[in-house]
Amino acid sequence: MINIAVLGYGTVGSGVVEVIRTNQESINKKAGQDINIKYVLDLREFPGDPVMDILVHDYNVILNDPEVEIVAEVMGGVNPAYDFVKAALEKGKSVCTSNKELVEKHGAELLKIAKEHNRNFLFEASVGGGIPIIRPLNQSLTADEITEITGILNGTTNYILTKMCQEGLAFDTVLKEAQDLGYAERNPEADVEGFDACRKIAILASLAFGKDVDYENIYTEGITKITDVDFKYANSIGCAVKLFGKAKKVDDKFYAYVAPVMVNSTHPLYSVNGVFNGILVNGNVLGDVMFYGSGAGKLPTASAVVSDIVDAVKHLNTNVIIQWSSKKLEITDIKLSSKKFFVRVSGQAEDRLAQIEEAFGKVQVIKVAELTDEFAFITSELTEAAFEEAASKVDGIITRIRIED
Ligand code: HSE
Repeated sequence: MINIAVLGYGTVGSGVVEVIRTNQESINKKAGQDINIKYVLDLREFPGDPVMDILVHDYNVILNDPEVEIVAEVMGGVNPAYDFVKAALEKGKSVCTSNKELVEKHGAELLKIAKEHNRNFLFEASVGGGIPIIRPLNQSLTADEITEITGILNGTTNYILTKMCQEGLAFDTVLKEAQDLGYAERNPEADVEGFDACRKIAILASLAFGKDVDYENIYTEGITKITDVDFKYANSIGCAVKLFGKAKKVDDKFYAYVAPVMVNSTHPLYSVNGVFNGILVNGNVLGDVMFYGSGAGKLPTASAVVSDIVDAVKHLNTNVIIQWSSKKLEITDIKLSSKKFFVRVSGQAEDRLAQIEEAFGKVQVIKVAELTDEFAFITSELTEAAFEEAASKVDGIITRIRIED
């Protein structure tokens, strides 16, 4: 029998306990041993909940119990999670976590400590909720050099953009509806400004390219400036607007960004709608492979944490190598990356096209009948720096959205 402890009895923590108790028999069979939740740590009391029998308030009880082999950290936030996880690894316990802030900030260091103690630091639930993506990157796609990862990594923003696209609603209206339904936080900044997706693409890039990527170095643009008018154009040309987190290697340079992008219906991520997440990975020998599913929520996230617990049981005295060095990966300035741009401008195309094409070269004009005092155009592929230079020569630009093929 293997004893484990769960740190935090919030949404994910109670999900971990529920998943283990619901699927106890099959989980034990897959792990090859019986998994026993010996402790749950939380500062609160839960009167009437069976967890009361194993609830502790002092982390030292868990840390100093040599019978506890695996700790599931599902508290969230960097403090005190970092101290708790580090101490557990140093005591020779494996750790499984759903905590993306912790993994993004301290992943390289915690993996090193786990390796030194011949234990494991696992974090499947930190990106894409219930979607298996961390283990596939580490254990399945090992024949490939990963060249590109593109993800819809945030369910809240994907829900908002899908509703705006399908129902023609304004951003503020959909955000309020999402908050009322509990899909968006009362303080939605981390989601709508792209910071959550940024941490996730930083983790995926660190794993894909084997060196530490700081999320502060990734260009990040949220969805707050996307409007219902943008969707009138997008719909007229059969496109959707999605918040992408992207990391790619071109020659010896690495690029990464989070930004809303326009995609057409042939893009594999076009149909990832609502609260779902999708992650498209390109390997140099495999080509494209895509992962799709529930990127958030109590049970999907708990499912990923429990899958790590099973993995930790199966590799109790073996460190499963995860390539993520503490050396920093240099991310190339986004200004040097190239793409097409969708641009909205005020006025009439007939009057404005000469000035626009002088700045941008040949463009494709888009008109929407009901929009009488503006139009849009799509540029050819150019660098972000060249786009900014050209845009500075054109009056009346309302907005621009990057295009991903
Ligand atoms: N706020 C996140 C989302 C939760 O909307 O996807 C999962 O990290």
